[in-house]
Amino acid sequence: MKRHLILVTVAAALASTASAQDVKLDPLHADVLMKFAFSQAPKDWVGRVDQDETMKVCSATRNAPSAAEGDKIMAAAKATIKYPDDGKLMGDWKKGEQWAQSGYGMRFTDYPPQNPTGGNCYACHQMTQAELSYGTVGPSLREYGKIRKYAESDVKAVYDKIYNAHASFPCSLMPRLGTNAVLTIDQIKDLVALVMSPESPVNK
Ligand code: HEC
Repeated sequence: MKRHLILVTVAAALASTASAQDVKLDPLHADVLMKFAFSQAPKDWVGRVDQDETMKVCSATRNAPSAAEGDKIMAAAKATIKYPDDGKLMGDWKKGEQWAQSGYGMRFTDYPPQNPTGGNCYACHQMTQAELSYGTVGPSLREYGKIRKYAESDVKAVYDKIYNAHASFPCSLMPRLGTNAVLTIDQIKDLVALVMSPESPVNK
């Protein structure tokens, strides 16, 4: 009943504004609504509903932070990136393809988790030629390594991108898969191999 009332109140507030483009929902109400919507979620999910500093700045500036704010976000993101002990940034592209295909993990139906979490890359990127079902929120990654002549600096850039996309683009829409512990370092290495290895179908 209470949930219903809150939703009706918010819907009425939205409807009373001039146009969809013009909607103004103050951040405090948005926070309350968000918390309420996830009030039945498992206890260890609570933190996922709170916006961190990066999300707050990106929301408040509609993904257009000032240069100084952007630099601050990128520096903070960069500082979170951890590298493998052996210094090798590429793993097994075959496993990488598995992680890229998988959207498993962190959904209500995946709780408690039974399988490794996936990277869900195809939801946003074209990658191999064989996979015809992909999203276009992110740029196509077809022949990504080949185009860059498999340069070592690009291998590192891809590792960093997957670990924390905000280190190179302050308000990136790409999830921070390493920093937020969605993927392990080994999974990230496998995904780097998928994007950057000459043997990978991404580069065929
Ligand atoms: C929710 C959508 C989304 C998902 C999921 C996603 N990405 Fe991205 N990705 C983006 C967007 C948007 C960009 C472009 C903006 C940017 O650079 O941050 C991007 C950029 C990239 C780039 C840099 C592209 C360039 O132009 O140099 C790489 C590499 C990349 N993604 C790899 C991956 C891999 C690998 C995965 C899976 C582990 C993945 N992405 C998952 C949205 C996504």
